[in-house]
Amino acid sequence: MSYQIATITLNPAYDLLGYCEKIALGDVNLVQTTDLLPAGKGINVAKVLADLDVKLTVGGFLGCENRDGFTTLFNTLGVTDKFETISGRTRINVKLTEQNSDVTDLNFSGFTITEEDWQQFVTHSLQWLKGMDMVAICGSLPVGLSLDKLTEWMEQVKQICPKIIFDSSRDALVAGLKAKPWLIKPNDKELEILVGHPLPTLTEIKSAATQLIQDGIENVVVSLGSKGALWVTKGEAWLAKPPKCKVVSTVGAGDSMVAGIIYGLHKRMSLKETLVFASSVAALSVEQAGVGISNRQDVDNMVNKIEIIAS
Ligand SMILES: Nc1ncnc2c1ncn2[C@@H]1O[C@H](COP(=O)(O)OP(=O)(O)OP(=O)(O)O)[C@@H](O)[C@H]1O
Ligand SMILES: [Mg+2]
Repeated sequence: MSYQIATITLNPAYDLLGYCEKIALGDVNLVQTTDLLPAGKGINVAKVLADLDVKLTVGGFLGCENRDGFTTLFNTLGVTDKFETISGRTRINVKLTEQNSDVTDLNFSGFTITEEDWQQFVTHSLQWLKGMDMVAICGSLPVGLSLDKLTEWMEQVKQICPKIIFDSSRDALVAGLKAKPWLIKPNDKELEILVGHPLPTLTEIKSAATQLIQDGIENVVVSLGSKGALWVTKGEAWLAKPPKCKVVSTVGAGDSMVAGIIYGLHKRMSLKETLVFASSVAALSVEQAGVGISNRQDVDNMVNKIEIIAS
């Protein structure tokens, strides 16, 4: 039996990207549409993994009123679609870029999860996740879903699929941590919020990660933007530094890194090799506008440019 992987996105969104020379508030603005993309952190992870030829399953919630774009994407990627379709509309995030490169985000609200929606998701997901070796739970929580419910569900998921990779922020990160996921990938800012104080040095970042390991999380991968990533476990710690990259967009770099981590583990690479591979996928992602890998050879070339240091 091959290794089975799933990603879960509880709060996906359409990203509507546009260009407007100068936004005039309170007036009519002509916007040139750049793209309309079905997105969300677990979906980004799935896209990168599908580009690396990994077969996987995706789940979470989607609104019935605008599900089509997601269904089409899942068909194109060849991923198994286990999303619950609920009433209402999946939220839309409008990102407007101006001539001076400022980006204004307008995050519209979408569906609200009802108790019944949640119960149905819990029942179904605990059924289909039984067959999975690893599940990545990514992103924020939709309106209507309480933090306690997330913790409770993640504790149940852990019983059937112990390898949970969790990537979220703020309150949702705190709630998910209570279930002691197998691996977390906060960025440095998220880790600072989690521990409640600044972490100005690598030594302090490592000791915060070590504390989390002592609390029962097996793997803590702290991403540090252009400074790289630090992976800490009980017995090992590695720092991977990317080369200087020509940055086009850092949006989704963390998701690309999560996908690279899953890929390395799935191919049974060592922890060190996995971090190098994940850093390569992430570094490549910043040199392009969206997430995904168009040429596998680019990843293999980037692997040689990552510096890896025992920490
Ligand atoms: N400017 C950069 N140059 C090279 N690599 C980068 C750069 N920015 C990010 N990366 C790579 O991507 C990884 C993840 O980036 P980052 O720490 O910004 O994640 P994040 O804040 O979680 O991103 P996301 O917006 O996806 O949540 C880094 O650990 C690094 O390996
Ligand atoms: Mg992130």
